[in-house]
Amino acid sequence: MELTTTVADARSRLAVARRQGASVGLVPTMGSLHDGHLSLVRAARADCDVVAMTIFVNPLQFGAGEDLDAYPRDLDRDRVLAESAGVDLLFAPSTAEMYPEPPATSVVVAGLTDTMEGASRPTHFAGVATVVTKLFHVAGPCRAYFGEKDYQQLAVIRRMVADLSFPVEVVGCPIVRESDGLALSSRNAYLAPEERAAAPVLHRSLLAGRAAIEDGERDPNAVVAVIRGVVEDEPLAELDYAEALDAETLRRPDQLVGDVRLLVAARFGRPRLLDNLGLLVPEQG
Ligand code: PAJ
Repeated sequence: MELTTTVADARSRLAVARRQGASVGLVPTMGSLHDGHLSLVRAARADCDVVAMTIFVNPLQFGAGEDLDAYPRDLDRDRVLAESAGVDLLFAPSTAEMYPEPPATSVVVAGLTDTMEGASRPTHFAGVATVVTKLFHVAGPCRAYFGEKDYQQLAVIRRMVADLSFPVEVVGCPIVRESDGLALSSRNAYLAPEERAAAPVLHRSLLAGRAAIEDGERDPNAVVAVIRGVVEDEPLAELDYAEALDAETLRRPDQLVGDVRLLVAARFGRPRLLDNLGLLVPEQG
């Protein structure tokens, strides 16, 4: 595995690989790697000739008072994990390399970013879209792998790529979970033991929402009430939002039919954790 810290070097290495006929897979991350990130590498490894991972804790996507300074960073550990998962090129730029000056340009994806994570973190998705734009421009034509764990982020990036004609094929990958259902996340490291024990309530709440749909419920408000009820029964969870949405538009439909996403977010002490679940809902017959 090669490690590079400059935009120019990463860009030229991937351009050379493409000129030699190689397909490029890109896995953008903020490091602190866990098996969720590595599952993206494995998916890229299966599809592409050259796999590039980026590790950059992007200040633009953290709001004032969020955990930018505390965000876990350990490049030595991440290097070993990335290499063993099959990364060929690791691009780990400094903040000065990515933003020699505070950027005057920002990429805003309207509509999809008003709700849920966007409502809680108003500048977050512009920060994500701006840095992902830069990373796509460094990487050039590629397949780019993102986790469904951050479902709204995936929808925002898909929309941005379509709207702005990026030469990038976005690939969404399933959520990797602990055996008790908790979705892997770098922020799980902030959980105190009793909060860690409580956190699988998020996944349970989504399973309860899905069970309600499977029992015939098609009213999104009723399904949201089921999800909320499960989370609110857990004293250590402070619910932020629960949603039952059309998977593509991220709007709450009149009736849950077709490709549906259930999403939930709650705070457990310091960290705010996210989860979601997809299902294909048949018309009621
Ligand atoms: P980060 O939180 O490091 O996540 C990097 C990628 O790993 C994202 O696509 C995320 O959805 C995926 N991921 C995280 N946990 C996962 C899990 N349990 N299962 C499957 N995939 C998982 O998301 C970001 O970084 C940043 O916003 C970024 C896109 C890199 C832009 O800065």
